[in-house]
Amino acid sequence: MGKKTILAISGSLRSPSFTEKMLDLCIEGMGENIEIRKFYPHKMNIGPCISCWACWSKKTPGECVQKDDFQEILDVYQRADYFLWAFPLYYFSFPATVKNVIDRFFITLKPSQYLSARGTTEHPKRFDSHPKAVLISSCGFPEIENFDIVRQHFKKICDESDWHWAGEILISAAGVSNVPKLFDDKYDLIKKAGMDLVDGVISKEISDAIAAPVMDAKDYREICTAHFSGGIMGIAKTLSIGIKAVINKK
Ligand SMILES: Cc1cc2nc3c(=O)[nH]c(=O)nc-3n(C[C@H](O)[C@H](O)[C@H](O)COP(=O)(O)O)c2cc1C
Repeated sequence: MGKKTILAISGSLRSPSFTEKMLDLCIEGMGENIEIRKFYPHKMNIGPCISCWACWSKKTPGECVQKDDFQEILDVYQRADYFLWAFPLYYFSFPATVKNVIDRFFITLKPSQYLSARGTTEHPKRFDSHPKAVLISSCGFPEIENFDIVRQHFKKICDESDWHWAGEILISAAGVSNVPKLFDDKYDLIKKAGMDLVDGVISKEISDAIAAPVMDAKDYREICTAHFSGGIMGIAKTLSIGIKAVINKK
């Protein structure tokens, strides 16, 4: 069997990025028989869609007037088996640089409108084959519900684009990801999610286990507050709550 192509968007503007770590673990779990093409939108020259409709015109169908780095992503997209979107949650949604890339995928749609089998109005797609798409994200608040809006949004984009939604890998309370051992079981589970993906979709059981809280939400709020308040007291509180969380985890 030929190698599967993975198109990955690594959307954190931070380095090192926790979300990119999640992405890399998922890719690791997908095994050896893969070709990985990872893109960092914020490091690329990608202009925003200017809504000129040239890609929908009869004269230049499917052609963008902006000759920039988005073409590299689009070239890989056309042969991609998997499309992994990894980004930190910003204001309950995509970072602007990631949303910018999504908007440029407008070129993959054709202008007419029809009633889809889903019962919603959609555009026909320009390409015939479509990758499996996965949402990978982390956030700084403790509740997993902070992802509700972006989960729904991502699914809607998958529907409109004919990407085959294949699951999600979501972690809240990422502010304590540097506390030793707290996330270790999640790292193994993310690799398992990658294995799942090769066989089909990431199972709900694995997604739920990855999303399970690592510590009490009240303690989490306190440790984050103490961390940013700094000073001796802040450090002492950070350490004591961190140690408590690790002990409770055992
Ligand atoms: C501009 C900005 C907006 C953010 N918005 C949210 C948010 O709406 N909800 C949330 O829980 N965390 C929010 N966060 C926290 C990040 O999602 C969190 O720190 C994430 O784990 C960072 O991942 P990274 O290391 O991959 O960049 C925000 C962070 C920044 C810088």
